[in-house]
Amino acid sequence: MRALVTGISGFVGQHLTRALLSEGWEVWGCSLRGLPQGNALPPCVRVLTGDLEQPEVARHALQEARPEAIFHLAARAAVGPSHADPWGTLRANIAMQVHLLEAVRQWRPQAVVLVVGSSEEYGLASPAEMPLREDSPLRPRSPYAVSKLAQDFLGLQYHLAYGLHIVRVRPFNHIGPGQGPGFVAADFARQVAEAEMGQREPTIRVGNLEAARDFTDVRDVVNAYRLLARQGQAGEVYNVASGRAIKISALLELMLACSRVPIKVIQDESRMRPSDTPLVYGDYGKLHACTGWQPTIPLEVTVQDVLEYWRAQLRKG
Ligand code: GDD
Repeated sequence: MRALVTGISGFVGQHLTRALLSEGWEVWGCSLRGLPQGNALPPCVRVLTGDLEQPEVARHALQEARPEAIFHLAARAAVGPSHADPWGTLRANIAMQVHLLEAVRQWRPQAVVLVVGSSEEYGLASPAEMPLREDSPLRPRSPYAVSKLAQDFLGLQYHLAYGLHIVRVRPFNHIGPGQGPGFVAADFARQVAEAEMGQREPTIRVGNLEAARDFTDVRDVVNAYRLLARQGQAGEVYNVASGRAIKISALLELMLACSRVPIKVIQDESRMRPSDTPLVYGDYGKLHACTGWQPTIPLEVTVQDVLEYWRAQLRKG
């Protein structure tokens, strides 16, 4: 099978590429700036550089790669900053999705397209509504969430209108080695690693610790994507979740328990958001019924791996 992974140089893109290669896929990628220096992807991966906000870049990628499956990961992925730049977030995520779907319609109508939404689409939900299912109400709380809802439903629309083989996913929080700053596990791990190496005071600055999230290791998440590209039903949407909620304070405790030095926690107002989803966890039963998928990597292992990743990053300078 030949895959095109958009956003291949990103956190999820690199993990997905490794998973596809290990299963014998030929992988092409599309990236805004090309692969970062020191990336661990083998030279057999062909990467096209370009901005999918330009329609001709999507067309060129499909004509060059001629993929049988397209994993559309390229997106603005941070929730917090989307409040400061709502239009930039909406424009980028919607434009890239539309250009890709238009190019698929014209040049690769038989390809499977994985459209990546987000659990943030569910937004505000009461504890009684948990775990969230694919048919739970959608009440997005951030510009990012609205942009993901638009991507999700553009996928549905292109399936209904043109019969494209679109498979939609709503991943809940995914963390792991390679994730950049701006996401909670990476933000915490980087500060712990910096404190251990004496690069900062032994303190960690945190935002809202009361929220609870459903964390899955990114390596499990990309396996779900890989399985769905082969077995997902066209037009359907699937949660990718662990099925349980962890408070951010508990994640912090796990991280601090791995620290080699004692660290003081400081609440940082600048890390609080104008609105923040208080509790979210999902039901992955539909994905399991379709593919047999279930999460395999315990959170403790993921946290340790994230911390090791940041220690290695800092050692490299
Ligand atoms: N980023 C960050 N940094 N978040 C913090 C911090 C901090 O220092 N301290 C507390 N938090 C809280 C946030 O307020 C939020 O309640 C929670 O930790 C998780 O924040 P993020 O890791 O930024 O994730 P998110 O839940 O907003 O969004 C992530 O998950 C979505 C799927 O549910 C992102 O990965 C999205 O791209 C993804 O769609």
